[in-house]
Amino acid sequence: MSNYHIKHLEEYFSVYRKSVRDPELFWSEVAEEHFMWRKKWDQVLDWDFDKAEISWFKGAQLNITENCIDRHLYTRGNKTAILFEPNDPKEPAIHITYRQLHERVSKFANVLKDQGIGKGDRVCIYLPMIPELAVAVLACARIGAIHSVVFAGFSATALSTRINDCGAKMLITSDGSFRGAKSIDLKGIVDEALEDCPGVAAVLVAKRTHAEIHMEAGRDHWLQPLLDDAYGDCVPEVMDSEDPLFILYTSGSTGKPKGMMHTTAGYMVYSAYTFKNVFQQKENDVYWCTADIGWITGHSYIVYGPLANGATTVMFEGVPSYPDYSRFWDIIDKHKITQLYTAPTAIRALAKENLDFVTSHDLSSLRILGTVGEPINEEAWHWYNDHIGKKKCPIVDTWWQTETGGILISPIPFVTPTIPTYATLPMPGIQPALMDENGEEIKGNQVDGRLCIKFPWPSIARTIWGDHQRYKDTYFSAFKGMYFTGDGALRDEVGYYRITGRVDDVIIVSGHNLGTAPIEDSINEHPAVAESAIVGFPHDIKGNALYGYVILKETGEGRDRDNLRKEINQVITEHIGPIAKLDKIQFVSGLPKTRSGKIMRRILRKIASKDTSNLGDTSTLLNPEVVAEIMKEAL
Ligand code: WTA
Repeated sequence: MSNYHIKHLEEYFSVYRKSVRDPELFWSEVAEEHFMWRKKWDQVLDWDFDKAEISWFKGAQLNITENCIDRHLYTRGNKTAILFEPNDPKEPAIHITYRQLHERVSKFANVLKDQGIGKGDRVCIYLPMIPELAVAVLACARIGAIHSVVFAGFSATALSTRINDCGAKMLITSDGSFRGAKSIDLKGIVDEALEDCPGVAAVLVAKRTHAEIHMEAGRDHWLQPLLDDAYGDCVPEVMDSEDPLFILYTSGSTGKPKGMMHTTAGYMVYSAYTFKNVFQQKENDVYWCTADIGWITGHSYIVYGPLANGATTVMFEGVPSYPDYSRFWDIIDKHKITQLYTAPTAIRALAKENLDFVTSHDLSSLRILGTVGEPINEEAWHWYNDHIGKKKCPIVDTWWQTETGGILISPIPFVTPTIPTYATLPMPGIQPALMDENGEEIKGNQVDGRLCIKFPWPSIARTIWGDHQRYKDTYFSAFKGMYFTGDGALRDEVGYYRITGRVDDVIIVSGHNLGTAPIEDSINEHPAVAESAIVGFPHDIKGNALYGYVILKETGEGRDRDNLRKEINQVITEHIGPIAKLDKIQFVSGLPKTRSGKIMRRILRKIASKDTSNLGDTSTLLNPEVVAEIMKEAL
């Protein structure tokens, strides 16, 4: 029996049982069987959830890029590692073989070294989905620098906050980016961000749009000439298993974004293991994950997981709607994609379009479909199953988080029978628990509660960069001895899990996590705004959209409301990015508050969702009269 690749349901159950009975034996066998180590570990696992301290494979040494690139050179040197599909379909796709990737990563790594970057330095990467992005990530890992990729849709303020939080010395970016018919002045955003980032000594600029841009003398360098001069081999830095690999920011319900820190060995083992099983990867597959590398899905399942398995992974620069709504189906047909991994929001948007976009393409190469990022509704699941998978491709509804590093609950295709909207069963090594509001574990089936994980798995984030206390408070304090996910879930009669959504003030809009507090903080900076409260409401494409209740200052009272709405969204765009814009803004004279001054979001959520038949008990409110007014004027 192989621990590494599960092929039957009985095998899943026996592997799962083993992984719970003896996690250390289980993970050490997986690690031993399939990876290249410079030195083996002294201890498989050391952990203390009360202190939020976890380490895996202590004492081991390795370099993740040796595992993702070098070891494939003998057997797969000429196989495509990365298949780049550009924004414009008239531009040719680019196949980067493992041998070419080795050379490109080595050159880039040598450029980083020449610029004075070394082990432990933080490098921020703000790039569109072009090959340089994956190469930059791997080049950092090659020399032991810690990468922090910032999604290139974030604003200058969001970028500078992240750069300063992790103390990045260098930024890697491009002149601009293409998104459908638009081109975006990325370097302009960078220049604005860097006005607030004195720690960034150097900026490497890739050429993509060939737009005229400002190059700051002494700070900005064109990337290509440096690469041209660099040596095509770079000895990998030998890393300890717990050396940081990357920092990736995710929104919390309060405060500034959390820099989740992942380390080397455990992350590698778990992302590779789950990729192999959840996508049942075979040698000649062409696997496509449509996420951006700016998110964890791109880190684990475009870059590290697939490459560690010697897979061919597609990177798509564009958007599903350009040149028209057939783009996804065109790409599948063109490259004979075998596994498609995308988000429910994309499925819902595409399902709304004419079916001819789909039926005019040959999708018969597809074997497995995946979804991630938010709960998938039944309608979208069936559309995906019927029209894309033609009822032949199992759908893997994968539940996980930036913090978990890899997929924790998911069907294994052709192994686990699927049910629409269910993430089904935990991966080997994952021990979920449902908790009630008193902190007790709810045993048995047909129950629902707050989803926790009882035992560490190799790719759990190790800390929040620079703020271990916050890490402990956020994830390990709500339920003693457990990692708390922030999600609610139910367990059905056979033990399948269905994720029901966030139970905190994080709202998932089009698959992006948005904390309400940071958006409220930015709105409150508008000079006419006194106070605000944001809640989510159901949206048929985005899953959730944002509804803002805003109290104006006296100075704002006489202003044109539509202009104010535009200005408020502009402030949000500047502080966070367009993904956090509000769909609806209602001006109110007050917000329902408890006697202790807390906003009763439950009531605001119900009004925003037009679900006002039962508002619950409002008698404890400080200002119950405001509820009627808000309801009357609700949008
Ligand atoms: C939600 C994305 C339901 C969940 C990998 C989680 C999901 C948050 C699913 C993490 C799913 C992710 N079904 N909900 N299959 N996958 N979520 O950090 O609320 O961007 O906590 O990681 O997305 O989002 P993040």
